[in-house]
Amino acid sequence: MNSTIKITKTTNSRLETVDFDNLTFGSTFSDHMFVVDYKDGQWQNPEIVPYGPIQIEPAMMSLHYGQAVFEGMKASKHIDGTPLLMRPELNARRFNLSAERLSMPTIPEELFLEGLHTLIDLDQAWIPPQKGSAMYVRPFMFATDNYIKVGESKTYKFIIITGPVGPYYPKPISLIAEQKYVRAVRGGTGEAKAAGNYAGSLLPARIAREKGYDQVMWMDGHDFEYIEEVGTMNIFFVMYNKVYTPATDGSILKGTTRQSVITLLRDEGYEVFEKPISIHEVLEAYDKGELQEVFGTGTAVVVAKVNKLAYRDRVLEFPLENLKVGNWVKAQIDGLRAGTIEDTRGWIVPVKSATLV
Ligand SMILES: Cc1ncc(COP(=O)(O)O)c(C=O)c1O
Repeated sequence: MNSTIKITKTTNSRLETVDFDNLTFGSTFSDHMFVVDYKDGQWQNPEIVPYGPIQIEPAMMSLHYGQAVFEGMKASKHIDGTPLLMRPELNARRFNLSAERLSMPTIPEELFLEGLHTLIDLDQAWIPPQKGSAMYVRPFMFATDNYIKVGESKTYKFIIITGPVGPYYPKPISLIAEQKYVRAVRGGTGEAKAAGNYAGSLLPARIAREKGYDQVMWMDGHDFEYIEEVGTMNIFFVMYNKVYTPATDGSILKGTTRQSVITLLRDEGYEVFEKPISIHEVLEAYDKGELQEVFGTGTAVVVAKVNKLAYRDRVLEFPLENLKVGNWVKAQIDGLRAGTIEDTRGWIVPVKSATLV
């Protein structure tokens, strides 16, 4: 990696004001941010500056036409104190796939990764040392032309912000299979991490909460029969002692955790199938006593157990103690991130900046 990132350090660090034992997710931001602008067909002037407001005009296109994409990842600390990332190249690649889908410029993976490493290296004191805590990392890009006509912007801003997040003790979640709204359809933007996908999910999520469920389980946009994913997680079912997860066919976000979970389970000898999963197969397995576990996977939670699943007039409940596969795979990922389990796959990357010396 070799780029010249101009660094302006804060003269007024907020680090001392943060209570690392009582962090809420997503509301505390580290001292610096990485910013690079796309103009005249190229990425220009990468820099790290103190975290703070940015100036925009009311006509900024992303506010009107939604050209905005993002990523979510975590930096953790090895037990020896080294800051680590897990498979950051997967996020860099997915970011560019999202950008392409929204007709935005891609960002060279090298620049994405160098910005990421330099920023995290600089603000590594913000990675909470507590077990299970991490620094959440949010790269994002949005259109910045000021122009009120539907079309692509010619200028964009790419920013990375970070912030410490507390340990996530996942409580079991209840899900309701959505029967009216869809998150995405094949050919739409569901596979991209596009900001608008999340906007569209808020109303159904609120309705689900009003009915007493934590999250919506998204179904296919055609027949509402095949299971897609959940909120900010991919979903796994353990049935007949085998592991099933919906195939990513264009409408589901290809989760990085999903990808790692599949590999870890297969390497451990589990049979894992990526295929369309009909809700009726799940109901049948449940009725036969063959639905052993349901869990969601994602960067924030790693693995979250599902204890209740509603579909029309059926409510399936799962005993809390049943999470053998999910617990095993969560312990693997947590152990890899903490350096207590040996990384034999080259997934764990120490944070190292070529710019910061
Ligand atoms: C819609 C959606 N599905 C799945 C996931 C899980 O993806 P990952 O494992 O890369 O965090 C996320 C989170 O990023 C998400 O927002």
